[in-house]
Amino acid sequence: MKVCIIGVGYVGLVTGVCLAEIGHNVICVDNVEAKIEKLKKAVSPIYEPGLEGFIEKNLKAQRLKFTTDIKYGVQNSEIIFISVGTPSLSNGQADLSYVEAVAAEVGKYINGEKIIVNKSTVPIGSGDWVSMIVSESIQKNNPDKNVKFSVVSNPEFLREGSAIGDTFFPDRIVIGSSSKSAIDKMLELYSPLIEQSFDWHSIDIPRLLPKGQKVPVVVSDLTSAEMIKYAANSFLATKISYINEIANICEKVGADILKVAEGMGLDSRIGPKFLSAGIGWGGSCFPKDVSALAYIANEYGMTPQILNSIINVNREQRLKIVKKVQDELKIVKGKTISVLGIAFKPNTDDTREAPSISIMNSLINLGARIKAYDPVVKEKPQTLSEKVILSQDVYDSIKGADLLILTTEWDEFKNLDFSKIKSIMNNNIIIDGRNLFDREKLLKLGFKYIGIGR
Ligand code: NAD
Ligand code: UGA
Repeated sequence: MKVCIIGVGYVGLVTGVCLAEIGHNVICVDNVEAKIEKLKKAVSPIYEPGLEGFIEKNLKAQRLKFTTDIKYGVQNSEIIFISVGTPSLSNGQADLSYVEAVAAEVGKYINGEKIIVNKSTVPIGSGDWVSMIVSESIQKNNPDKNVKFSVVSNPEFLREGSAIGDTFFPDRIVIGSSSKSAIDKMLELYSPLIEQSFDWHSIDIPRLLPKGQKVPVVVSDLTSAEMIKYAANSFLATKISYINEIANICEKVGADILKVAEGMGLDSRIGPKFLSAGIGWGGSCFPKDVSALAYIANEYGMTPQILNSIINVNREQRLKIVKKVQDELKIVKGKTISVLGIAFKPNTDDTREAPSISIMNSLINLGARIKAYDPVVKEKPQTLSEKVILSQDVYDSIKGADLLILTTEWDEFKNLDFSKIKSIMNNNIIIDGRNLFDREKLLKLGFKYIGIGR
């Protein structure tokens, strides 16, 4: 099938590559020329394990094209995915300006029957709203044209850092629309994924579902599909805020959150995933999606008490690290703190809403000198204080530090040489914001170890 993906970011690029890999002809459109130029040379503009190999393979097979020409993309495809960003406005509402701009362009260039798919995470009701924008644009630009189109909500559940595995081997596929024929087309598009009938050649990423094992599909109305996405992300964020609150109680009563989470997670009704206590959830999605759902509830005159609570718990969880630093150092002014990890989680270069950034900015405000290191983030994010010193070497970031904070649980940090670290630090205090390090080992080496909830 002929597919166009508009917005080639973390979601659009992976979706485009996956659809090409399962045999479709995919045109990926983005309005950032530099990104498209890189992609034409099979260079990924984002850090996502395993992605580049698939880009290269499908470019060569001529199933994947990259362009800035949206007209070309729209006119040469039957299914058009909108996968642009939907960031938060300052009041928590989702900013739909990028979706609006794309929907208007699609209406401007539409040249026959199309299915327009909302892949972006959008507020409830956006499917109908996109339909209106496209219709208005058709009216404005081609009043004589009688073109038909349907809108589908097909939310994305991939996680950054494991996006390839999540996309090829999903837990489920959700398709929402009022058009039966559009739903049928979407089922046809995804058929190789649903049936798990495609061959898998990747050496880096294992086949996560047995060949032929069917992936569940949820077919619904537009509104329910949109709600599934917000409800799923908010539930996952709730699970993390819950375990963080339990971790905080553990610290007071002397329990160990790792044992508590293990004991809870073995209950099949609870499950072990998303029970890692830490410095709170960040990233480009949970913060904005929980806020957007709370905003929607407010619009309907409701007070979303659980959502409001998890937002507060999460905000406080980041501040708790700053408090732990103050408890240990007493005077923060003039102290050197090493921060390991800038990305909001491992295996990505994404720093949007990274907890590390708010922690570092707060410590800078308290007068600390911060040296930060990340295995992949090599340029300072705009939201990070200019005063933070970015080290290109992990030991360089630790040298002379009065305290070390682990903020992102990259594998690289698991195997650090702690004897060396002890000899180059000024003081031997480690705050392990992700409970990554071996506590007993560090204690034996003479470090003061402070974890989360233990
Ligand atoms: P992103 O910022 O990485 O990518 C968006 C892309 O859209 C950018 O490359 C941008 O240049 C492009 N763009 C913006 N306006 C455009 C226009 N008018 N024409 C063409 N291209 C345009 O965003 P993302 O992280 O991929 O997220 C996209 C959507 O998917 C969001 O709604 C997000 O909530 C949702 N989502 C993201 C993830 C994730 O892990 N990042 C997972 C599930 C869902
Ligand atoms: C999340 C969801 O997991 C995806 O299903 C969804 O598609 C995506 O948001 C989205 O809508 O964009 P992602 O943001 O990539 O994916 O990352 P997660 O692995 O979910 O982690 C989110 C945050 O929660 C990170 O800051 C992570 O460190 C934190 N986290 C996660 C914890 O603190 N504890 C955990 O147990 C799990």
